[in-house]
Amino acid sequence: MARFGVLLAALLVTAAYAEAPDYKQSLIARFPFYNLATGMFAPVYPALAQQLVQDYGLSDGVYVDVGGAEGSLAMELAKRTRATVYVVDLDPAAVRLCNLLADEAKLTGRVRAIEGDAQNLPLRDGFADLVVSRNSLFQWPDKIAGIKEAYRILKPGGVAYLGGGFSRLLSADDTARLVAWSEKKRANEGDLVKMPADLVDQLRHAGIERARVIEDPTEFDWWLELRK
Ligand SMILES: C[S@@+](CC[C@H](N)C(=O)[O-])C[C@H]1O[C@@H](n2cnc3c(N)ncnc32)[C@H](O)[C@@H]1O
Repeated sequence: MARFGVLLAALLVTAAYAEAPDYKQSLIARFPFYNLATGMFAPVYPALAQQLVQDYGLSDGVYVDVGGAEGSLAMELAKRTRATVYVVDLDPAAVRLCNLLADEAKLTGRVRAIEGDAQNLPLRDGFADLVVSRNSLFQWPDKIAGIKEAYRILKPGGVAYLGGGFSRLLSADDTARLVAWSEKKRANEGDLVKMPADLVDQLRHAGIERARVIEDPTEFDWWLELRK
């Protein structure tokens, strides 16, 4: 009888583990951007995380990646700091996948994904030391509302780095490869990564004084830095 119990327990554990990859695959099927992020874009996240750590002297605190998808950038930030990194994304599959990948990377609790809209973040005022957002802003129907939300959740002394593109620290080969890919995409789909006109002026009117646009080093790279 005891032997039967052990056998049954072993079968149940095996079944639970056998199910896990299917769940992960079902999330990837619902959020196929994962394949791009872990494929051709993979070198961007460590380079960008390293750049942010260097430029803003990051070591600990609370960081938020808005539209952070499956958490590739958040995990690279968590690996280089002692911070807790929140990922906010509109897509429920991306959020579930991010938390699963954080568990796999042994970053449970250090990378925390939650569902939410950039234009109405479910986080309190003055929550974050750093707010970052890469290649998501272009999908927000009201970009100014999303930028104001990023500013609202910043702590005094905090910094936001929002926009799109790659990283100054990405290798020349990877940059050339990704620029070529982006040019092809633009030829087929139009300019998806366009900066809103008079952005800094619009932000001044919205009460955000310390904003600057950083356009460097490729035309597919543009970023907005906010300081509070
Ligand atoms: C092109 S992916 C970029 C993902 C990631 N930031 C990166 O650099 O790989 C855009 C992400 O923004 C998310 N997104 C789009 N609109 C959003 C919104 N209004 N609020 C939050 N997330 C949004 C999408 O679900 C998607 O995960």
